[in-house]
Amino acid sequence: MADAPTTRAPRLYDDLAAWWPLLSAPVHYLEEAHVYRSLILEACATPPRTLLELGSGGGNNASHLKLDFTMTLVDRAPAMLEVSRALNPECEHVLGDMRDVRLGRVFDAVFAHDAITYLTTLDDLARAAETAFVHCRPGGVALFAPDAIRELFREITHCGGRDGETRSLRYLQWIWDPDPTDTTYLADFAYVLREGGGEPRVEHDRHVFGLFSRAEWLQVLRDAGFVPRVVPLVHSEVEAGTIELFVASKP
Ligand SMILES: C[S@@+](CC[C@H](N)C(=O)[O-])C[C@H]1O[C@@H](n2cnc3c(N)ncnc32)[C@H](O)[C@@H]1O
Repeated sequence: MADAPTTRAPRLYDDLAAWWPLLSAPVHYLEEAHVYRSLILEACATPPRTLLELGSGGGNNASHLKLDFTMTLVDRAPAMLEVSRALNPECEHVLGDMRDVRLGRVFDAVFAHDAITYLTTLDDLARAAETAFVHCRPGGVALFAPDAIRELFREITHCGGRDGETRSLRYLQWIWDPDPTDTTYLADFAYVLREGGGEPRVEHDRHVFGLFSRAEWLQVLRDAGFVPRVVPLVHSEVEAGTIELFVASKP
């Protein structure tokens, strides 16, 4: 029997993964990646060289961060690793889940961008924090960039997409929370896909995200052994005060 819509892995990372570059382009990550780079550099006791990214997806952040760091990219979706390998052939790619992957070595820094938002329970968040901790060297840092925390969550709609050489994508993303008392919210996507000048087709995809308070985030990171702090994300494509990052130093 098929999974219920709320537990199924997003199609965007599976059968529709080849469309990812038309939904999300590396150029849109340039300014944001610069912010992450600066935070990682500032937070490390000695200059960081190696960076592990957990949930690296299509590798858009990595396409910028790899200029400053030797990167290892972990994702649980084989199709997304394939997309990222095409963009970042010089990076090491590893199939794994951020809740339990163990690479048997440490990195100067660990980074989890929007992929961390796919963890929907505090237990899963704690497992990912532990993964970050065991892969981070003492004096290093783990940077977490969830799409939302409970205090700042709001329902919102985004749209975008672009044309490739032989096909085009447009999307509408509707972020909403059917039950504000639980630890999840939803993003429903409508993708309009057009190939070779033919008729567009429409696909629906539901993404289930986790929503935790600032205090819960800080407690999970402290419990893992980090010394965490909260930093607002400031860049031109983000409305001021809507996104917070967690910079977690490993003593
Ligand atoms: C929006 S994409 C990340 C895009 C990325 N920030 C970039 O720069 O291209 C989200 C990714 O998180 C991955 N993901 C979700 N949960 C995960 C988990 N538990 N472990 C590893 N990867 C996960 C998905 O497979 C997907 O590739």
